Amino acid sequence: MKKPGKTGGRALKARIKRKSGLKASSRRWLERHLNDPYVHRSKAEGYRSRAAYKLIEIDDRHKLLKPGAKVIDLGAAPGGWSQVAAARTGSEPDAPGVVAIDYLGVDPIAGVTILEMDFLDDDAPARLLKALGSAPDVVLSDMAAPTTGHKRTDHIRTMHLCEVAADFAVKVLRPGGHFLAKTFQGGTENALLTMLKQNFASVHHVKPPASRDESVELYLLAKGFKGRPDQDP
Ligand SMILES: C[S@@+](CC[C@H](N)C(=O)[O-])C[C@H]1O[C@@H](n2cnc3c(N)ncnc32)[C@H](O)[C@@H]1O
Repeated sequence: MKKPGKTGGRALKARIKRKSGLKASSRRWLERHLNDPYVHRSKAEGYRSRAAYKLIEIDDRHKLLKPGAKVIDLGAAPGGWSQVAAARTGSEPDAPGVVAIDYLGVDPIAGVTILEMDFLDDDAPARLLKALGSAPDVVLSDMAAPTTGHKRTDHIRTMHLCEVAADFAVKVLRPGGHFLAKTFQGGTENALLTMLKQNFASVHHVKPPASRDESVELYLLAKGFKGRPDQDP
């Protein structure tokens, strides 16, 4: 898949002056943000985050979000993935089929029930299921731990979130369901991969074009949940 508006080697359009008073790293971040075609596209198309395009690109290719599917979105703020999930599943405001959770506030989204709480709280799984009203067909997790500036620590924390999300997915998904979660290159533990391979028909890593090349971010996609012994196929 091609990245929008990316023409190799094209010069940056917006530049921040050295005299702006910003640190070099902040200046670089701002320049990249201002020149990012996904940022422009998200503003034009009404998505709350450029991250929305990661889910759009993954779903265009792997067809996870079917009309009527029930979805849980872990780490949802500011809400881009939830917007995509609600639109693609046709979730209705009077009977939402999408439940989102984040400890940060998320402004209301039609067709999405939003829980403002920490997914790591003991009662989060039960609250999510109660809000959805049935088992999910899809568990999404774009959760990322807040950055500390120490990359290794950040990766370990985000990998922990990925593992807890995977554990949750195999406890709650409907047979045939899918799990998609943020991870890092080289970060997925063998034990997690083995567990997912035992429980899903296929497991692989995906890097959508909207995920920046220079970022070590990857997504773990597990498709076709085999079901638990207590479940009807
Ligand atoms: C990359 S952002 C998600 C972007 C979102 N997918 C979108 O499209 O707008 C990661 C989110 O994970 C959330 N998060 C991290 N740890 C969490 C936790 N333990 N419980 C709930 N949310 C968490 C953060 O607050 C942050 O909003």
